[in-house]
Amino acid sequence: MAIQLSDKPLLEWAGDTLAIGLFEDAVELTGELATLNEKLAGVLKELIAEEEFTAKANSTIFTRVAAGNLIRKVILVGLGKPEALKLDSVRRAAAAAARVAKKQKSKTLGFSFPLWNNDPGATAQAIAEGTQLALYQDIRFKSEPEDKGPQLETVDLLGFAGQEAAINRANKIVSGVILARQLVAAPANAVTPITLAETAQAIATDHGLQVEILEREECEKLGMGAFLGVAQASDLPPKFIHLTYKPEGTPKKKLAIIGKGLTFDSGGLNIKGAGSGIETMKIDMGGAAATLGAAKAIGQLKPDVEVHFISAATENMISGHAMRPGDILKASNGKTIEVNNTDAEGRLTLADALVFADKLGLDAIVDLATLTGANVIALGEDIAGLYTPDDTVASQLEKAAETSGEKIWRMPMEEKYFEGLKSGIADMKNTGPRPGGSITAALFLKQFVKDTPWAHLDIAGPVWTDKENGYNSSGATGYGVRTLVSWVLGTGD
Ligand code: BES
Ligand code: MN
Ligand code: ZN
Repeated sequence: MAIQLSDKPLLEWAGDTLAIGLFEDAVELTGELATLNEKLAGVLKELIAEEEFTAKANSTIFTRVAAGNLIRKVILVGLGKPEALKLDSVRRAAAAAARVAKKQKSKTLGFSFPLWNNDPGATAQAIAEGTQLALYQDIRFKSEPEDKGPQLETVDLLGFAGQEAAINRANKIVSGVILARQLVAAPANAVTPITLAETAQAIATDHGLQVEILEREECEKLGMGAFLGVAQASDLPPKFIHLTYKPEGTPKKKLAIIGKGLTFDSGGLNIKGAGSGIETMKIDMGGAAATLGAAKAIGQLKPDVEVHFISAATENMISGHAMRPGDILKASNGKTIEVNNTDAEGRLTLADALVFADKLGLDAIVDLATLTGANVIALGEDIAGLYTPDDTVASQLEKAAETSGEKIWRMPMEEKYFEGLKSGIADMKNTGPRPGGSITAALFLKQFVKDTPWAHLDIAGPVWTDKENGYNSSGATGYGVRTLVSWVLGTGD
């Protein structure tokens, strides 16, 4: 699908379907829209009245117009109240319109949308993102595509002439989100630690990043006993992935993004039981997927910021080599961990990744992880938990999430709860009591960051959606990529 900018006035645009964005309580047609209504023999006014259309956010109605016009169909899209218009409202409204256009078998779609915040660049980018993210279909694992109907071929943004940079930005970001969706959606027999390492290598080759893959022996030399403890039951080799984007000049900031990369989480000897969702645990590399998706986007956007993309990738499996409940592991910072639950494996892999990143002397580290079911209980499926002792990084990420429309909510780092992780024999246990389980997980991670401002995002909920939601179709969402990109770009300003 090609997104184009059109300098044609609304009344002169020719194509299959025209999508018009309207504000709630302001559906009377004025100016150009009144003229269009007249040209179409009053059909728009009639449609609004008949369907009692009030332009509530993301509501859509459409109609066929008489033959002989430049367009065949019109979609009216609700934008909600003007004072409540967010950038993400534009993205979602564009997605809703694109879905209707696709269903109506349109090949060409024109968008006539008002500006968000008087900002044509941001608005054009949001429309381009919403449209492409909503219409992406994953047919890699079907022997034959089910949807054989016509595909949307071109999308024209009316009134956005000159915004090429915004469209390019959107396309680069969307390519990263789609990579993340593909990595998460692929089953664990298709995406393994080896695949993740190969994906990192491909990003490096395609977009000029540096890449280093540490094999098991090198991780042993670095003392990554926590990561390797998790990896030891798998027949697949663990891969410690380190991709680096370096800008041409002096970087304004140096950052790290770390993603939990469990390509499958069986639970280990504390095996996940019936009803635990074990069959969905291919998603447990959603953090790594977001990290690689962000790397793909950043590699193309080329900001003045150095970014390290890191994942300690492995599977959590069962075999005669498996770590046992009660085993003690030593992480690369020398801290010892009593593994009282082998299903709390993500934090063990992240521990060594955090120590590695902390030693790079960076300005900030953000990790993303499908870390706990407790976070889903606390915040539901749509919202990631943000855990950080650092108010600056917290507000940077909150701002980035506002721009991306990906929901995050800051949670407390209640130090007292660390008592739940006290071990009689080692420095700490990997699992505390059930209450506050996402908080103790974050407090565990904190033990492995010494000097660098750090934040952790628990994305166990939003990594996946069972039903269509905004510009996400059911399945992998690619959650995190857009917030990370926005965060990195923001720190370079
Ligand atoms: N990968 C899971 C967390 C998870 C749960 C992700 C649901 C996505 C959806 C993680 O490794 C895990 O098993 N966590 C345990 C921790 C417990 C043993 C302390 C959990 O949340 O139950
Ligand atoms: Mn687990
Ligand atoms: Zn896990």
